[in-house]
Amino acid sequence: MKLRSLLCGTVISSFVLVAAPAQTKSDSKIPHLEKRGPVTQLIVDGKPFLVLAGELHNSSSSSLEYMKPIWPRLVKMNLNTVLAVVSWEQVEPAEGRFDFTVVDGLLREARQQHLRLVILWFGSWKNGTSRYEADWVKTDQARFPRVVNKDGKSLEILSTLGEATREADAKAFAALMRHLRAVDSRDHTVIMIQMQNEVGVLGDSRDRSPAANAAFARPVSKELLDYLQQHKNTLLPELRKIWDVAGNKTAGTWEEIFGKGTATDEIFQAWNYARFCNRVSEAGKAEYALPTFVNTWIVQPEDKGPGDYPSGGPQAHVHDLWRAGAPKIDILAPDIYLPDFPGILKMYSRSGNPVFIPESRAGAGGAANAFFAFGQFGAIGYSPFGIEAQEGENGMIPKAYAMLGQLAPLILEHQAKGSIAGVWLTREKPSEKVSLGNYTLNVELRKQRRSPASLPDLGYAICLATGPDEYVVSGSDVQVTFTPNMPGLPIVGLLSVEEGAFKDGKWIPGRRLNGDEVQLRYDLSVAAAENQPGTGLRFPAGAPGIQRVKLYRYR
Ligand code: DGJ
Repeated sequence: MKLRSLLCGTVISSFVLVAAPAQTKSDSKIPHLEKRGPVTQLIVDGKPFLVLAGELHNSSSSSLEYMKPIWPRLVKMNLNTVLAVVSWEQVEPAEGRFDFTVVDGLLREARQQHLRLVILWFGSWKNGTSRYEADWVKTDQARFPRVVNKDGKSLEILSTLGEATREADAKAFAALMRHLRAVDSRDHTVIMIQMQNEVGVLGDSRDRSPAANAAFARPVSKELLDYLQQHKNTLLPELRKIWDVAGNKTAGTWEEIFGKGTATDEIFQAWNYARFCNRVSEAGKAEYALPTFVNTWIVQPEDKGPGDYPSGGPQAHVHDLWRAGAPKIDILAPDIYLPDFPGILKMYSRSGNPVFIPESRAGAGGAANAFFAFGQFGAIGYSPFGIEAQEGENGMIPKAYAMLGQLAPLILEHQAKGSIAGVWLTREKPSEKVSLGNYTLNVELRKQRRSPASLPDLGYAICLATGPDEYVVSGSDVQVTFTPNMPGLPIVGLLSVEEGAFKDGKWIPGRRLNGDEVQLRYDLSVAAAENQPGTGLRFPAGAPGIQRVKLYRYR
């Protein structure tokens, strides 16, 4: 007996010995989101990670051969992460037969280049339409029903109400995640997953297939009604208003609870897309629980209503539906091509939604966006779309990423402490006052001393309070002056200003800046009357630089 139990113990412990390293390592260190101070950060290999990314064009990652010359270019552009499509049609060519050749190739190449990957799961939907699902799904309309529009025409959009579709998508996605767990749970090359792409019904405000019409006529699900009641006081104003106007009912059909009209159609679609995506995400997370996000084709100014833009996608005004219906989706992410980048981030950071921008612009505007998102909104990552066809290694995104890469440990530390700010300036808004630590920073578009009225189009900065009287600022085409937040002597002078770089988190000073590099004006008496010394930080146009400033006060 004793011998038997001893033997059993040996077998078990030797099994544990063999199995433990892969299991425990992967489970404890799997990339995950963590709330740190006021922000949510992505933790990779036990440390917060700033995602400096670019998204490949839709078809690039389908061919390893095509990708070959692209990888080294992405490295030269200073990316640390690539957003790459993995499609259902490629991984499950026949039902139940999986082929991960392309996935494995992407992992191999990314690892060789020391890049991380965010996989975009193009399953049932891509930009509203259904084009990336497996062929055997496309050709079986009876089993995998489609959206039907007002005219009774079926569209090339899978219906969210197709249970077989949902389960087939979930099965394929779970197989992908199981595979990733097997091949990547030690390396963590893949750090996040995008669920589908820009979902929503195009061409009508809602699906009018028989199953959808039946669901629309049925009472709203209890889960959603409970959510509304439990979160009554924290619902976002857009949904709260619709519910209030319809009389705050707690039971009834969609039109009884939310009123008649396209807004209700969109709410119905948002709930159904959320439920579908939640199920797929849940099935994947059960295999390998990477963070997941959904991305949004945001309403455009010319759109007249839902259906002109994908109806039911995670628009800011329906975030509550997504929160209620998709607890297994971690982030509701905006694809931002519109000019009001700050306004959109404001809408997408409500209710504690972590900020990640999977698609946006490159160029100088993209650099400004990235600085602002990381500095002001605690963003996890930024990613211009179609990165392989964007500016080469001398473009502004590569230059901005070079700076952000150096600053990353500091940015992540100060995001968690709440001692960081981002500024995004245009001629319409040429200055901003930022209260940070013991001082207020007045950040302005850079002025030319001899013609102060001629301003650049765009300026941006990240400001970090690194000590009681010390700041690290990185920016382009801005100037910065200081006023005290604390009682005491009124004028803030520059004790010393260094430009420099961070190497492995350590400050390496370059020039000590003085003279023309910090003198902003010579009307010293006018400046003194404003409690200003006439000096400040000045960041020239072009590639952003880093400066470290120590301050003192006088009267
Ligand atoms: C948004 C989509 O999500 C991308 O896949 C891509 O098609 C871009 N639009 C093109 O601008």
